[in-house]
Amino acid sequence: MDGYDAATYGDRFADVYDDWYGQLTDTEACVAAVARLADGAPLLELGVGTGRLALPLAATGLPVVGVDASTAMLKRLAAKPGGERVEGVLGDMVDPPLAERRFGVVLVAYNTLFNLVDPADQQRCLVNAARRLAPGGRLVLEAFVPAPGAPGDAAGRGPVDRVEPRTVSADRVVLSVSRSDPATQEVLGQYVDITEQGIRLRPWHIRWSTPEQLDTMAAAAGLVLADRWASWSGEPFGPDAAAHVSIYERAGTPPPTR
Ligand SMILES: C[S@@+](CC[C@H](N)C(=O)[O-])C[C@H]1O[C@@H](n2cnc3c(N)ncnc32)[C@H](O)[C@@H]1O
Repeated sequence: MDGYDAATYGDRFADVYDDWYGQLTDTEACVAAVARLADGAPLLELGVGTGRLALPLAATGLPVVGVDASTAMLKRLAAKPGGERVEGVLGDMVDPPLAERRFGVVLVAYNTLFNLVDPADQQRCLVNAARRLAPGGRLVLEAFVPAPGAPGDAAGRGPVDRVEPRTVSADRVVLSVSRSDPATQEVLGQYVDITEQGIRLRPWHIRWSTPEQLDTMAAAAGLVLADRWASWSGEPFGPDAAAHVSIYERAGTPPPTR
């Protein structure tokens, strides 16, 4: 998308992010699961946003570093109660500026990896995330599963265009406009936010990867799938799952002793 870079999504959504996405129902289960996996070790969240997850994770006592490409998102995070507990780092999640620091968990939640629209960047992100894992550390990745037969699948159809209202009120209309292209696995979108004061455009651009493609990329990063759930509460992953939480470990990590 012309004029769109790593900071664009965050900079254009920071003012509405918490209203629109702050109440995702699985936040509590996610925090519980990730805190359990980290088991006291430092945690790195890539694409930390306004701290929906990082703040409650830091409140459990974990040392939390959050990387984001958007200054606007990091400012919102820092201004919240408890914001000082999260170390915000401005940078690209493909290769965050973290010197040689290592983490017990690297978290990439809520489809954030798909913000990298070049598959080579998704691959580099996983390679660098793997490099940052302390011994026994895990990469935890949450993403949607592209549904077979849904718009945007690999069934050979052309791009699918959609326009849907997101908000309709007396003084505001928000339209969601998107184009999914199964050939490139990309979706270009805009929320067109219309008020009496004017129009605000909130663009987004993702490239989805299937769980199998992610496993292949993870393998190239020296990681193996240790577990895959259909949700943060640990439901088993199956063919009908709409999303997955995938937990990767370094290849050769011994199974946990019980
Ligand atoms: C969908 S939001 C998720 C925020 C948070 N993880 C959550 O679950 O609520 C994606 C975040 O990734 C950030 N982001 C997008 N591309 C990025 C990149 N290349 N490097 C670092 N952050 C990026 C955006 O600024 C935004 O804050």
